[in-house]
Amino acid sequence: MIRASAPGKVILLGEHAVVYGRPAIAAPLRQVQAEATVETLEGTPAGSILIEAPDIGQQIWLRECGADDPLGKAVRLALDEVGEPHAALRLTIRSTIPIAAGLGSGAAVSAAILRALALAAGNPISDEWLCKRVYDVEKIYHGTPSGIDNTVVVYARPIFFMRDEEPTPFTPAQPFTLVLADTGVRSPTARAVGAVRKQWQADRAGVEHIFDHIAQIVERGYQAIQSGDLTVLGDAMDENQSCLEQIQVSSPELDGLIQAARKAGALGAKLTGAGQGGVMAALADPQHAEHIRFALMEAGAPWTAVTEVR
Ligand code: PMV
Repeated sequence: MIRASAPGKVILLGEHAVVYGRPAIAAPLRQVQAEATVETLEGTPAGSILIEAPDIGQQIWLRECGADDPLGKAVRLALDEVGEPHAALRLTIRSTIPIAAGLGSGAAVSAAILRALALAAGNPISDEWLCKRVYDVEKIYHGTPSGIDNTVVVYARPIFFMRDEEPTPFTPAQPFTLVLADTGVRSPTARAVGAVRKQWQADRAGVEHIFDHIAQIVERGYQAIQSGDLTVLGDAMDENQSCLEQIQVSSPELDGLIQAARKAGALGAKLTGAGQGGVMAALADPQHAEHIRFALMEAGAPWTAVTEVR
């Protein structure tokens, strides 16, 4: 059996503005991952591929997948590159990344599928190629992806990212700890990105001004990461959250968890990913991380995690 995986991701600063050409910072989230396995299916004509995703109750033959099915699209992109298989295959996808929560679940699933099928064909693929193909699948979720999700998930490194530019992988001067908590409210990326687009169309100058402010915050946060100044980084996260509130991608559930984290001693807290639900991230002193995580559970988060960015 062939097995391949990809991690989740967390956007530290700059989501949404990154779609409009501003910088953003993201890191892999290794605690959760998507995994794809490929095995031969006996007694079935060669070339048939059965796609199974037991976590979401999906079982479908590739030939039955519509053009806008992201799993089918990832498989077809892999076969375009490595050729049709000489046997029938069963492709099984499992993921511990909460879906539609802002943690890059779609990108990680696509990366795992593409990697597994290339491995099964004995055909090594470069991360650069993989990154582009995962981006192609991301377009199904929303028409204008910035490319940050596929990049961080494929390279599995913290990155400073700007649309249409080479990403800059980095290592923080000093590792730092994030506490993550899920609101339990599912929020498709396309809906939040679409809502921001509508505001931008209605008040271009006003929203561009907020994006410029976010860009300054990202630059300041990046400098803080490079100098190991967690107080400045925490403040940058808080200020970024205010901007995200202004473009209306926060929610009462996110606000509740963010307040709970700050009250429990977080150095800064904000939503992460598309917002309108999904996950928030808090910066924590390592010795306070468990206390903050506990406060977030008390505040009703159905899923929490502590991760170190290094
Ligand atoms: O919610 P996610 O994990 O898909 O993150 C989306 C990040 C956005 O900046 C909102 C969109 C994008 O394409 O960068």
